[in-house]
Amino acid sequence: MQLRKARNSDVGQIRSLINDMAARTDEDHKHGHMLPRSLVELYEHIRDYTVLVDDDNNVLGCCALQSSWDGLAELKALAVDDSLQGQGWGRKLVEAALSEADNLGIDCVFTLTNKHQFFEKLQFEIIDMRKLPQRVWSECTNCAKFMVACDEVAMTYLGAQPRQTYIPAIGVNASAAAQAALGLAPSQRGVMNGPMNSNGFRPPFAPHRNDE
Ligand SMILES: CC(C)(COP(=O)(O)OP(=O)(O)OC[C@H]1O[C@@H](n2cnc3c(N)ncnc32)[C@H](O)[C@@H]1OP(=O)(O)O)[C@@H](O)C(=O)NCCC(=O)NCCS
Repeated sequence: MQLRKARNSDVGQIRSLINDMAARTDEDHKHGHMLPRSLVELYEHIRDYTVLVDDDNNVLGCCALQSSWDGLAELKALAVDDSLQGQGWGRKLVEAALSEADNLGIDCVFTLTNKHQFFEKLQFEIIDMRKLPQRVWSECTNCAKFMVACDEVAMTYLGAQPRQTYIPAIGVNASAAAQAALGLAPSQRGVMNGPMNSNGFRPPFAPHRNDE
């Protein structure tokens, strides 16, 4: 058994592993509870995946780390085949993702999960979901449980807090007329009070002033 980065040719097996688990009922709380993944998503994001394979290259576990925002990455699609659960492979897959995050310069790794006892063992801590930027909710909004029956919590490694960002009321280069239509004073326009940092190098949105 070994961990390695996934290859394009692993997609079929990763899909089966994840979607077989996703198809299970909520009663099987240990094994079920995963979002299904489509083939196109897996092919597009295959570089995010680490897989657990046996000597014949059968995929028996997987985990993805997806860079999603300024300093932020999501740990997702974690699964270990039933036959190998309880042997430490889930932990190793998470550790591999954390190591990748470190190499990428990510300082906040989050996951959305209902397995919080598992992740607590790996030094993840529950945080207020609302601290996550809106950018990360696209998958949730497609879920039938979103807002009405969700049983997940947001957790981050070591309890790191995501950097806060704010969306400007209007594009910084929008016309003066459009800005005036929103009642924005000239002092609220442009680089000084806008989201872009003047050196063009730092991330595009400045922190909320209250959170600095
Ligand atoms: C969750 C899952 C990945 C754990 O994998 P695993 O290989 O069995 O986990 P490990 O053997 O590495 O366990 C690491 C530790 O977590 C504990 N643990 C494992 N599953 C747990 C669970 N469901 N709840 C609480 N603790 C759990 C283990 O006892 C172990 O503790 P220890 O270090 O004190 O001995 C696996 O059960 C799985 O694939 N489940 C179905 C898919 C899923 O739910 N994925 C998560 C989606 S958010």
